Amino acid sequence: MTTRPIRIAPSILSADFARLGEEVRAIAEGGADFIHIDVMDGHFVPNISFGAPIMKAVRPVTDKVFDCHLMIAPADPYLADFAKGGADIITVHAEAGPHLHRSLQAIRGLGKQAGVALNPATPVAAIQHVIDDVDLVLVMSVNPGFGGQSFIPETLNKLRQAKALIGNRPIDLEVDGGVTADNARAIADAGANVLVAGSSIFAGNDSATYASRIAAIRMAATGRSA
Ligand code: DX5
Ligand code: ZN
Repeated sequence: MTTRPIRIAPSILSADFARLGEEVRAIAEGGADFIHIDVMDGHFVPNISFGAPIMKAVRPVTDKVFDCHLMIAPADPYLADFAKGGADIITVHAEAGPHLHRSLQAIRGLGKQAGVALNPATPVAAIQHVIDDVDLVLVMSVNPGFGGQSFIPETLNKLRQAKALIGNRPIDLEVDGGVTADNARAIADAGANVLVAGSSIFAGNDSATYASRIAAIRMAATGRSA
């Protein structure tokens, strides 16, 4: 099986929103590969974060990949807004609507990479018939809605199943929730190559700490030392 490069994707959900532009710049300069953007609607998940206008406002700060995780239902009416606002990857939840295939086609039709996310209770088989329509599979390792939750251990089994489904296709396997430098090795061993991390990078919101935290997760995931 091919191995894809490890990508570290800090989630700006744990950023200081009063200084969002500075925070995005700090993680970009600190070595982030993707900027993970958590959009919540208070309906699909029990929390509200922000929408496309906020993402668009920080788009000029960096050229890094904007990895947009839509925890909203329905998602389809908003896909064009996120595409126009500068998202590079747009991920919808498999549970968010009855027509997942249509949503994925719409994202690719907008010229963006299409991702599909799975909640902890949703089996990998739910995406078996759309696997050739995605560029990224996101396995949730917490119940979506909040940062700072603990990694659900069963996720490692699920990642292995997702990796087996992906096979040699050019698809990223992303994990989101409770990722730290302590579990990054096991996560990468299970097949994930994109590691989202919110609180383990942003805790304290001191930009002086970001580069070393990003590096620690990357080193653990790649198995390399400093
Ligand atoms: C959860 C979000 C995650 C979250 C990760 O609903 O999708 O991206 O912000 O935060 P941590 O790393 O703190 O679990
Ligand atoms: Zn997320």
